[in-house]
Amino acid sequence: MPETPVTSESVAVRRSAVRVLLRLWPYVRPVRGRFFSAAFVAVVASCLSLVIPLVLKWLVDGPVADRDPGGVWLGALYLLLLGVAEAGLFGLRRWLVARPLSSVEARMREDLYGRLQRLPIAFHDRWASGQLLSRGTTDLMIVRMFLAFPLTFLVVNAVTILAGCALLLGQDRSLGLVLLTPVVPVMVLCSYFERRYGVVARRAQDQVGDLTTVVEESVLGIRIVKGFGRHRSQADAFRRLAELLRSTELSKARLLATIWALITVLPELAIGAALVLGSVRVADGDLSAGTLVAFLSTALALRWPVESIGFLLAMSQEAVTATERYFEVMDAEEERDAAAPAAAPAGAADGLRFEGVSFRFPDAPDDAPPVLDSIDLHVRPGETLALVGATGSGKTTLTALVPRLHEVSAGRILLDGEDIALMERERLRTLVSVAFEEPTLFSASVGENVLMGAGPEAGEPELARALGIAQADGFVGRLPEGTRTQVGEQGLSLSGGQRQRLALARAVVGRPRFLVLDDPLSALDVHTEARVEAALREVLKETTALVVAHRPSTVMLADRVALLSGGRIAAVGTHQELLRSSAEYAWLMSGGGDGER
Ligand SMILES: Nc1ncnc2c1ncn2[C@@H]1O[C@H](COP(=O)(O)OP(=O)(O)OP(=O)(O)O)[C@@H](O)[C@H]1O
Ligand SMILES: [Mg+2]
Repeated sequence: MPETPVTSESVAVRRSAVRVLLRLWPYVRPVRGRFFSAAFVAVVASCLSLVIPLVLKWLVDGPVADRDPGGVWLGALYLLLLGVAEAGLFGLRRWLVARPLSSVEARMREDLYGRLQRLPIAFHDRWASGQLLSRGTTDLMIVRMFLAFPLTFLVVNAVTILAGCALLLGQDRSLGLVLLTPVVPVMVLCSYFERRYGVVARRAQDQVGDLTTVVEESVLGIRIVKGFGRHRSQADAFRRLAELLRSTELSKARLLATIWALITVLPELAIGAALVLGSVRVADGDLSAGTLVAFLSTALALRWPVESIGFLLAMSQEAVTATERYFEVMDAEEERDAAAPAAAPAGAADGLRFEGVSFRFPDAPDDAPPVLDSIDLHVRPGETLALVGATGSGKTTLTALVPRLHEVSAGRILLDGEDIALMERERLRTLVSVAFEEPTLFSASVGENVLMGAGPEAGEPELARALGIAQADGFVGRLPEGTRTQVGEQGLSLSGGQRQRLALARAVVGRPRFLVLDDPLSALDVHTEARVEAALREVLKETTALVVAHRPSTVMLADRVALLSGGRIAAVGTHQELLRSSAEYAWLMSGGGDGER
């Protein structure tokens, strides 16, 4: 989880807060017309409230002093009209911003989702999913609310306060100065508070992310939690995080309460002082009663704009952290395509080649040996090569390099002579199909899940063929709605072997030129495995394939075998050759097929 940046310099914080918020501009830009009109309407509405004291002054010094009932009625009518206009304008403002701002939120969310899809696996390895979820939900909501409310009202209140101050000083200079004394201390307190609040707000939002992660993990891992009777420890973990979040929220509330108290009490004292001073002067006759009434009602009209600044600043601070958290994801390094797509060589079939490929995980400690170290390997065109190695030897890692789920640290991988690092990812991924150890199914129908592996033109015949190869047609036919049956989140409703067969069907449905299978048959019973192998043999004839194998039966599908050991290719040859020449291979292949697992 990224650390909270704590800057001590308040000016730097303020400036960077503004810079952070300015990054929202590209999203607000398309709706700027409505947005600014709404702000303008709000400023007008708010300034209307300052006209009310002037009408009062006229009323008190004019018709009231002259005992003219007609004038009083007229004054009351003016006041009523002003009130109605103010309310109407605020309503108009709300109507103006509501729809554009929800479209801003939707667009930001869409961008975030798109970005999450494009970010490399290395990023997803590093980030907890709950942190990503909370950015896409809570943080974006905070940003929308900020745009709708605090942003506008900080401007509106500032304008209103300035206009009000001018009116106060214009009506009576000395009373005005008395009233304005608390301004400086309040501003200093606000800026101090804003800094403190920013730190706590960031902590709270990160903790929401952690909490989301725990909830998500316990829901996804509910079988493990129940199976091992871990409810209590999961609940404890949840309670700890919830408690942490609660205490952070409490310190937020405490900060807010303090600032609120100061912001309300100081102006109140000033109004009291002005009232005493003003009454004395009215009694002395050097101030008209109407001026005092107007003065005090202006001061009262300014109370709300001043008081609300505290929580407007708080909401803005939360929006700053939310924006920061949003852009942390948006700024993460994307998978990049080579600047200039290399001119494809004349398609000379050369198969799949690893040349001096090394790989270490980006977050591995510096002194750790690389997972893969100078791998040289050639899968000839049309050949099937089995990759064998002890568990944890790096087989899955090696296969993930081919579709560029991870980037090689050194060396290169060539498909028919073309460096994959220079290929457009989209083309690379149509050339290469993969089935991983952990078959993942999406919340969609069986057919959609399988056809995901093919282009948009693939349909029923391709689906039927792929299901046939994976020996999945039998069980799919028995599902309530056949290939249209919805499979749940992660395919929970299917058995491990059934999911594995659908993943295999997905890998072969697009008739890929290169096929990478990571132990695709591990969850099948021997009879199903034999039938899948028989069908797979036909597919493998047409493609160049790299198949991770743990059992002799899977190895039998391959023309040759490579042994991965200590991060290097220790031996390459046929099954028989390696049985004779490599003790490690012989050991891996003995022990009842998959004794090493
Ligand atoms: N994201 C990661 N970050 C750091 N290390 C990792 C990561 N993923 C895997 N590893 C490590 O890399 C090594 C190779 O893992 P890999 O999954 O490639 O093994 P494997 O040969 O496929 O094993 P198995 O036969 O059990 O499937 C292991 O030691 C593993 O702990
Ligand atoms: Mg593996």
